[in-house]
Amino acid sequence: MYIGSIDQGTTSTRFIVFDQQGQIISVAQKEHTQIYPQPGWVEHNPDEIWTNTQEVIAEALHKGGLTTKDLAAVGITNQRETTVVWNKHTGKPYYNALVWQDTRTSSLVAELAAEGGADRFRPKTGLPLATYFSSLKAKWLLKHIATLEKDALKGEVLFGTMDTYVLWQLTGGVHGGQHITDVTNASRTQLMNLSTLQWDGELLEAFGIPRNILPEIRSSSEVYGTATGVLEGVPVAGILGDQQAALVGQTCFEPGEAKNTYGTGCFMLLNTGTTINQSTHGLITTVAYQLGDKPAHYALEGSVAIAGALVQWLRDNLGIIQKSSDIEELAATVEDNGGCYFVPAFSGLYAPYWRADARGVIAGLTRFVNKGHLGRAALEATAFQTLEVLEAMEKDAGIRLSELRVDGGMTVNELLMQFQADLLNVPVVRPKMIETTALGAAYAAGLAVGYWKDTDDLRRNWGIEKTWEPVMEKSVRNSLYRHWRKAVRRSFGWEE
Ligand code: G3P
Repeated sequence: MYIGSIDQGTTSTRFIVFDQQGQIISVAQKEHTQIYPQPGWVEHNPDEIWTNTQEVIAEALHKGGLTTKDLAAVGITNQRETTVVWNKHTGKPYYNALVWQDTRTSSLVAELAAEGGADRFRPKTGLPLATYFSSLKAKWLLKHIATLEKDALKGEVLFGTMDTYVLWQLTGGVHGGQHITDVTNASRTQLMNLSTLQWDGELLEAFGIPRNILPEIRSSSEVYGTATGVLEGVPVAGILGDQQAALVGQTCFEPGEAKNTYGTGCFMLLNTGTTINQSTHGLITTVAYQLGDKPAHYALEGSVAIAGALVQWLRDNLGIIQKSSDIEELAATVEDNGGCYFVPAFSGLYAPYWRADARGVIAGLTRFVNKGHLGRAALEATAFQTLEVLEAMEKDAGIRLSELRVDGGMTVNELLMQFQADLLNVPVVRPKMIETTALGAAYAAGLAVGYWKDTDDLRRNWGIEKTWEPVMEKSVRNSLYRHWRKAVRRSFGWEE
């Protein structure tokens, strides 16, 4: 028997089947359309995503010569915060999903911050006011979609992040689909109280969200229902937001253990145990996981909006590379960044700045700079942003990280990994399995049905594949970082 994992990410949806050792048996993946109706707006079509989900499940099963009978359970992991509202009777979305990177709510951020400060909801939610979280996306939808408020009053509207939407569809949709989310995804809506792990009346009122559209909040590892259709009969038994899933996939179950995932964005999470640790250095506090009826674990998170997305931008918008993996070869044509720094503030800047008014800048240009330097600056941007987050994390948690566990697609880039180790001045450790997001959701589902016994069972699956040791001289590191920070300051205040 195996465990299946649906990974509904920002740019694609995948289905991966894992065995007991956490090895991949079969995988299928499909990208979906990124919809940019105007600058700063990012949308996905939920119908397209659900169709792709079913396709990748069928394809992976077929490739592996598997049937649903081979799956002991299935887990779901997802891009977080992305918000969809749909009609419970027709199953039709009222509007495209508003993606986490979308900045259309920036005026709402300013309005609410003017009333009570940008950190007014931090004590309850661990989150600053920002365009990033679901609360303001839902508020925007309720305000701009003509029939939504009326239908909500009639009890016909369902709200969800992508986990909830996929689970509802998978467990029957209009024919009895389960309307459920897990604590990790709920913690990204800015509507859940971190201590009670329940929707909070005061928050719902502040954002104007009717309670009856919200899903039930459950743990990250339990049987939520039975799948229909393409996964007919398989228990759906795990839900984790993708970054929390990577933490679980990296088996960071002890307080003080951290991972950094290099995907569309880049997200560092530090397990703080059962303690809610409020950040004073620009990080956010989030639920890490809750395994069945055990107490929830929390994490400090450093969220960086643009990492791999910058490489995609060089590919799709500038056309200076053909495919994402070409970036390493391009960056290797030069010895260093040639004085060029690229701050990818495409969605403003998240941690540790939380500046909705920032926009992207390329600084330090001279006639010397060529496309190799630009490619290198794009890669280095991810490493610089990670350094800023790591510094904030060490200050908040009062610890010094002795190594950084990494995962995600960009970690195949050796040049980036070496530069990351140099810049952080700590070893960077890549595990044998870098598909930790999907693996984490499989772990959550497998634990719920007894496929794995406990977290020690999972730890045995983790192993190091490669470590990069820092070799850069301190003076070089300091000079690079000084210039990066100058470039960051130039991105501030662009949007008025
Ligand atoms: O919070 C957004 C995050 O969940 C997106 O993750 O992997 O699509 O970059 P990813």
